[in-house]
Amino acid sequence: MALLTLTEAELRERTSLKWRTFEPDVLPMWVAEMDVHQHPAVVDALTEAIRRGDTGYPHGTAYAEAYAAMAEHRWGWRPEPAQIRRSGDVMNTMLALLVGSTAEGDHVVINPPVYPPFWQVVTGYRRHLTEVALTADARLDLPAIEAALDGPDRPTAYLLCSPHNPTGTLHTAEELTALAQLCGERGVTLIVDEIHAPLTDPGQTFVPILSLPQAQNAVVTFSAGKGWNLAALKGGVMIRGTQAEEVFAQAPPLANQSTGHLATIAHTAALTHAQGWVDDLMAEVAARKRLLVDLLAEHLPQVRHVPGPATYLAWLDCSALGLAHPRNHFLTHGKVALNAGEDFGPAYGQFVRMNLATSEEMLTQGVRRMAASLS
Ligand SMILES: Cc1ncc(COP(=O)(O)O)c(C=O)c1O
Repeated sequence: MALLTLTEAELRERTSLKWRTFEPDVLPMWVAEMDVHQHPAVVDALTEAIRRGDTGYPHGTAYAEAYAAMAEHRWGWRPEPAQIRRSGDVMNTMLALLVGSTAEGDHVVINPPVYPPFWQVVTGYRRHLTEVALTADARLDLPAIEAALDGPDRPTAYLLCSPHNPTGTLHTAEELTALAQLCGERGVTLIVDEIHAPLTDPGQTFVPILSLPQAQNAVVTFSAGKGWNLAALKGGVMIRGTQAEEVFAQAPPLANQSTGHLATIAHTAALTHAQGWVDDLMAEVAARKRLLVDLLAEHLPQVRHVPGPATYLAWLDCSALGLAHPRNHFLTHGKVALNAGEDFGPAYGQFVRMNLATSEEMLTQGVRRMAASLS
């Protein structure tokens, strides 16, 4: 069954952020919620749990075991049980790891353009940002990273997004190894957000950083919330390299408390029963990526866009359109809601991020509305 076929009328029954932030005449193509049919195993697991009245606290290691089984199935690598701990959702886990391993006033490296909460998790908790932008072709700039690590800021932590949101970059084993070594040699805590990891285009390979022998100083935050569209059920796991025991030990004691029991049930069901679902989903997303290329060529040839091999997000450079604020323009004049580029970094005000996890019809309508807003 095709997964991204829900109609606009069906989707407008949803009450989440994506669907209720804007007026009904606006097509929402922004926040990373998918317009997807949920897997029946997840629906059944949750329905059964509610029916049982199984709404207490989480217990046991089912989520961690399901994560390990997925890692082995998808990436041929399996962490030991001692390396995995239940944690909260990805951003709260990142916060816990950051607070535990850095002090107020420390500097933390991020790679703009990057998911807006990476900025907030640093500045909102009295740490400072050291920005090392991705290169023009959306890769890690290792010489610039080395210079920043040795520069006057002397960062003590690094937040890596892998795969990278919003560009969909898949970091290579060589890049990840080099980065881990740069951090390891300087005692910099390397925290890697792998929430988008299962979302790779067909034929593309994601490299889990902890599968690399020389990256065992890293710690990873993961949640099935993104890959299986379960953001409503906050939860996740954190995984440490064999040489990162102290990063776990330093995390605040309640860091594992914010996964709910229903999230554990739903995420575990997804990881256990819905691997083929993600592959089917990403085959459809890859088709949307091809459709977007065609639609842009036809309707918006000035927009520059290089499709990334991971995630369902498109990062569109609208500089050539000569708009003061592309996101506001498309919202006001095209009635299409996209994410504003500057939320991913101040240098990216001419970019917008588009969510492609939707039907062909909605994607087509979205690009047509954007084009019509310019005439
Ligand atoms: C890179 C990245 N990390 C984290 C999150 C949010 O994860 P959580 O809800 O588990 O904090 C998102 C959501 O889109 C994301 O794109």
